[in-house]
Amino acid sequence: MSIESLARPEIVAMRPYSSARKEAPAEGILLNANEAPWSLLDGVDGEALLNRYPEPQPQALVERLAELYDVQPDQVLVTRGSDEGIDLLARVFCRAGKDAILQSPPTFGMYRIAAQAQGADVVSIPRSAADGFRMQEQAVLDALQTDHRVKLVFLTSPNNPTGDVVREEFLETLLQRARDRAVVVVDEAYAEFCRQPSAASRIGGYPNLVVLRTLSKAWAAAGLRCGAVLAQPELLALLRRVIAPYPLPSPVTALALRMLQRDVLGRQLQLLQELEANKQVLLETLDGRPFVEELIAGEANFVLIRVDRATDLLAFCASRGLILRGFPGDAQLRQYIRISVGSTQDIGALAGVLDEWENQP
Ligand SMILES: Cc1ncc(COP(=O)(O)O)c(C=O)c1O
Repeated sequence: MSIESLARPEIVAMRPYSSARKEAPAEGILLNANEAPWSLLDGVDGEALLNRYPEPQPQALVERLAELYDVQPDQVLVTRGSDEGIDLLARVFCRAGKDAILQSPPTFGMYRIAAQAQGADVVSIPRSAADGFRMQEQAVLDALQTDHRVKLVFLTSPNNPTGDVVREEFLETLLQRARDRAVVVVDEAYAEFCRQPSAASRIGGYPNLVVLRTLSKAWAAAGLRCGAVLAQPELLALLRRVIAPYPLPSPVTALALRMLQRDVLGRQLQLLQELEANKQVLLETLDGRPFVEELIAGEANFVLIRVDRATDLLAFCASRGLILRGFPGDAQLRQYIRISVGSTQDIGALAGVLDEWENQP
């Protein structure tokens, strides 16, 4: 069975848009794309080509990301962050009113948004707070087996906001069961912060496996909006049918390439080490405080705490310029607050505000 049989038939049948830059290389006298003949800015990254449409998939960046994530270049589609990858997947694989995604909340909120925007249903197998928010693996497998509307299964490793990783044995079982049935998406936005090997090593064996990576977190470049969808070329070909013709602005590509040069690698490793050390400081700062009822350390660059009077605490912190993440609209997480691992100064400031909260009359 081919991956096309899981996609929306309209997408499979669609003749893809062919942009000017796709049809002809950017060489020679370029009068084919209604561009201006020169740029108005000097000295900006990527400025040399600002007047020109960028490469739809910049070859140098594709190759560098393939090297970084240890896959083949034809297994990489570069996107505007993982958010775009999630959106493309929902649009390609879910028919409105007919198909569904499967997720295990609490988890990243964009899976639900992408599905709902597409008119697809959301099948949720909730994690239980009483069980440390562990994923209910058997219930996920059962839902996949019994609900034939499920076309995309979203796993997040480490999960946001609970920080736990997907067990490799479970992933293997799920991939086997999902063969010819659904696409399994492993969102590894926080993978660099944990020791678990990437699911990308399994891509060769599973045409229905997608791994999402991003430069937003461990590469300290959320502002770049640069992510990658990793999968077999046949699956990526389907996403290429609906992706915007020029997803990556040339200055973004230039900056991403500069950042992924080997001399920056040392700085990135240092960032990861410092954040790991800071996370210990953050945990020590939170541990033992009387109002912290539960402390979930997880394996990413954030922690989750359950507190008494979460809304009041969030407002108190905000009034002192300290912005934490609450979940007032989420029944599972109403009492929880997520705190990102910041700099040592940030953690010092957090400690000061929490001392003040604790010692209020
Ligand atoms: C699990 C997860 N996936 C994806 C994203 C979005 O990443 P990007 O910035 O690459 O769009 C986030 C952002 O917080 C996230 O937590």
